[in-house]
Amino acid sequence: MRKGSGVDLFEITGGNRLRGSVTIGGAKNAALPIMAAAILVEGETVLEQVPDLADVRQMQVLLQRLGVHCERDAQGAMHLRVEDESNTHAEYDLVSKMRASVCVLGPLLAKRKRARVSMPGGCAIGDRPINLHVQGLEAIGAEYELLNGDVVLKAKRLTGAEMFLGGPFGSSVTATANVMMAATLAEGRTIIECAACEPEVVDLADFLNACGARIQGHGTPHLVIDGVPKLTGVQHRVIPDRIEAGTFMIAAAITNGDLELPGARVDHLLAVVDRLRQIGVIVERKDGGVEVSSARRLEPTQITTQPYPGFPTDLQAQVMALLCLADGNSVITEKVFPDRFLHVGELSRMGAQLRKEGPTVTVEGIKRFVGAPVMASDLRASAALILAGLIAKGTTRVHRVYHIDRGYERFEEKLSSVGAHIRRLPE
Ligand code: EPZ
Repeated sequence: MRKGSGVDLFEITGGNRLRGSVTIGGAKNAALPIMAAAILVEGETVLEQVPDLADVRQMQVLLQRLGVHCERDAQGAMHLRVEDESNTHAEYDLVSKMRASVCVLGPLLAKRKRARVSMPGGCAIGDRPINLHVQGLEAIGAEYELLNGDVVLKAKRLTGAEMFLGGPFGSSVTATANVMMAATLAEGRTIIECAACEPEVVDLADFLNACGARIQGHGTPHLVIDGVPKLTGVQHRVIPDRIEAGTFMIAAAITNGDLELPGARVDHLLAVVDRLRQIGVIVERKDGGVEVSSARRLEPTQITTQPYPGFPTDLQAQVMALLCLADGNSVITEKVFPDRFLHVGELSRMGAQLRKEGPTVTVEGIKRFVGAPVMASDLRASAALILAGLIAKGTTRVHRVYHIDRGYERFEEKLSSVGAHIRRLPE
């Protein structure tokens, strides 16, 4: 982590084309639930390729408060081991900073028979309810109570059940993770219909199966978990971060550059590759990774975000920045977090021509962004502002980059290494 980065800003001078190779780190949204799953297992768990992010450090603090020893060794591998099971309360001060803390709910309930986690509340991308998490855990036997803004779940024993876990926006990633984790130690078979199919859920299931769980159908909407008496810790390598990879693919495209991303899992990004190729971006598989460059002229297109395997909501802001420079009007519809548009106002300050009507934004192509001071809001909106700054005329200052540090490891260093003119400054 950067030294003393209280509230920093990024200063970017636009115009450089990015060229070279960027190493993609481990997936934040796989690492976080897998770290929480360590609560379920006996013995030591060793996780490789866990990215060094603020959110990961938050999860380490939370797990330590929950009696899980959690430390990195000299090679950066993370070692986790349960030492004390007495505390089952994930407190507001931690959960309010990071929604993914909710992933301890299922493991605490299944292993310690009790969990108290503060309701995450809203955030920059919209409301973050956890009704599906509670509904799924109640289905396998949890008793639910709301106490001072905390969700309290208790269960003498958990029994497998069949459930439909879809909400108004389709499947839920962390609700699927929570119920799947709890069901590994329930008695009997649990069937989750409308389960999330994200690669991060698949990676969690692979980890749990390696620990002795019996999960089938992961990666499909029909998830089947047969409970086992106990799980034993293993060594596991976290999958690469498809959202970081997608962000750098768009960085190559927006600067008319040429980037190689060794290790990026193109099979986790097929909806994104489909849209980028439609826009005129050249995407080629290259020795286990991908090479991305772009034609001078970008075509407009239509994009709707959906649960996996649809276009990921976590790349919506980034692709909006790219489409601002296409030759014509594009339409982006956000179907997962309909309010996830805080980047619209900020991109407009840089000259973007955007018109929001409910969950849809019309993006009118412009010739060029003009650098400006802008404000980061959520993790991915901040990335979009930086991408725009890379190609804007003049200088862009993106404030409150702690949002970036939550989900991108050494972002400015990686961008500088391929030619971006970007530096981190204290506010
Ligand atoms: C995960 O959040 C990711 N976070 C998010 O990434 C990602 O944007 C999101 O999935 C969608 O892909 C982690 O994995 C830690 P959801 P999650 O439950 O699980 C509604 C990032 O940038 N819903 O799949 O919280 C919800 O409001 C972050 O890394 C309910 O209605 O998302 C949303 O509209 C941001 N009730 C939709 O479902 C519930 O109980 C999908 O949310 C749960 C969710």
